[in-house]
Amino acid sequence: MSQTKSKKSESTPRVTLVLNCTSPQREDWVKERLPAAKVLSSSNETVESDEIRVVATDQRIELWDDQTPHGRGTFVDFSNIDTRTGTGNLGKNQPLRKAIGERARSIIDATAGFGQDTVLLACMGFEVTAFERNPVVATLLADGLARAKQTEALIEPISRVQLVVADTKKSLAHFTPSPDVIYIDGMFPLKRSKSALSKKPMRLARRLVGEDTDLPELLKVARRHAALRVVVKRPRGVKPLSDGVSARIKTKLVTYDIYPAAPS
Ligand SMILES: C[S@@+](CC[C@H](N)C(=O)[O-])C[C@H]1O[C@@H](n2cnc3c(N)ncnc32)[C@H](O)[C@@H]1O
Repeated sequence: MSQTKSKKSESTPRVTLVLNCTSPQREDWVKERLPAAKVLSSSNETVESDEIRVVATDQRIELWDDQTPHGRGTFVDFSNIDTRTGTGNLGKNQPLRKAIGERARSIIDATAGFGQDTVLLACMGFEVTAFERNPVVATLLADGLARAKQTEALIEPISRVQLVVADTKKSLAHFTPSPDVIYIDGMFPLKRSKSALSKKPMRLARRLVGEDTDLPELLKVARRHAALRVVVKRPRGVKPLSDGVSARIKTKLVTYDIYPAAPS
């Protein structure tokens, strides 16, 4: 797991792996992505408090921790994504869509996580290259994207998504042609209430990833490599990541800060 410039809120969990697949190819696929994970022979052992367990079956790849009831792990699932157009989730007035702008065709999602924004953007019609540097998060995302191809309405959007397991900051210099827009939604410091953590996927992602303390640096590099703009998602009421914002689009929960491209 990448430790690069991310601050762990608690101690870094040990990642263990249980392979419950009938297909050896699938087991190899998972092992190749998580070479540092200790392979356990059974999923029946109690999950320790310092452990995050990846459980791979033929159906899906799940994350378990010590607060996960048996058989109720977290996995990435796009089958319920809201694909209403017009005034709905994919409509022209959707705040994320407005932030991306009308001229954009290609987007780099610099912080893909479990891919909710990646797939939303693909469903809006954009070509999306999704970067995720944490191998555990990226493995769950790759599994979710593969399964999404079984949902009729998602086949075409998912065909426009490329997943890259790498640090975006280090990869942008080699990425040609420049994407129209680079989108950043980093893991920000926890404020006041920890209620967001009661949501299982968020709690597990935060335990794996910690805080993304290098977001200002990512923004700087992104502005040099975007053709049109960089969009940064921030919690509502939090100041922008840096100077240079040209517009802010606010919703009840989040703000999208727009930065013009600044080629060097
Ligand atoms: C808050 S989550 C993103 C959530 C995502 N937008 C979604 O809709 O599910 C942030 C993710 O970005 C990843 N990340 C942060 N900085 C990165 C970088 N420089 N390169 C690649 N991934 C990065 C973290 O590992 C983490 O998984």
